[in-house]
Amino acid sequence: MKKKLIAGNWKMNGGLAANEALLKALRDGMAAIASPCDVAVAVPAPYLAQVQALVAGSGIALAAQDVSAHEQGAYTGEVSAAMLKEFGARYVLVGHSERRQYHGETDAVVAIKAQRALALGVTPIVCVGETLAERDAGETEAVVKRQLAAVIHLNGHCISEIVVAYEPVWAIGTGRTATPAQAQAVHAVLRAQLALASGHAERVHLLYGGSMNAANAAELLAQPDIDGGLVGGASLKAADFLQIMGAA
Ligand code: G3H
Repeated sequence: MKKKLIAGNWKMNGGLAANEALLKALRDGMAAIASPCDVAVAVPAPYLAQVQALVAGSGIALAAQDVSAHEQGAYTGEVSAAMLKEFGARYVLVGHSERRQYHGETDAVVAIKAQRALALGVTPIVCVGETLAERDAGETEAVVKRQLAAVIHLNGHCISEIVVAYEPVWAIGTGRTATPAQAQAVHAVLRAQLALASGHAERVHLLYGGSMNAANAAELLAQPDIDGGLVGGASLKAADFLQIMGAA
């Protein structure tokens, strides 16, 4: 059975001193976990170099929160996949709902971003998820399938090399978590969709994200198709993040 992957998404939080303190606490705490799961932290781009140095040899993988859809050139403010690679990023989030919502990222753009990352050997963590209105309208399955299909369509041959994160938008930062049954149901849909595209769908980590915390992680992570978590708020508190790792 593959190891679970617990990824923290710091979003636009952190600072040089806070990052150092948090990562020291995580390193110390992880040493006490008998068989740790795979762990990653997705940090704001300016801190990639700092965190690359701080996680060296720790078993914590470095992740970025976004990547440009362009390879290089006159794209002010953008960060390329090659740049992420150069700073040791193992993963990059693509299509987080906050990018889709506040920056107008479409399924097509998300698919190109995944392609840019894959081309450089950086694993994209492709985020999908429905809004509350979409769930209430009974559209959850159609929405997540459409979002994943765009990535599969463009990156079909290497689809077993992606990570998928199911993050219901209504559960992000709200304290309202999907029930384990609700999350598992969507994960099963995503697994089946991957299986149609690849003989290696079982290899793909399917993460749940949305108000995952120390209290609810164990039950969510016990679901058969939940292979880890994408943790926002709780990843900023070492004790909570360590407890989630312990539950994995
Ligand atoms: O990327 C992480 C998700 O947006 C979840 O955030 O754990 O603060 O709800 P949250």
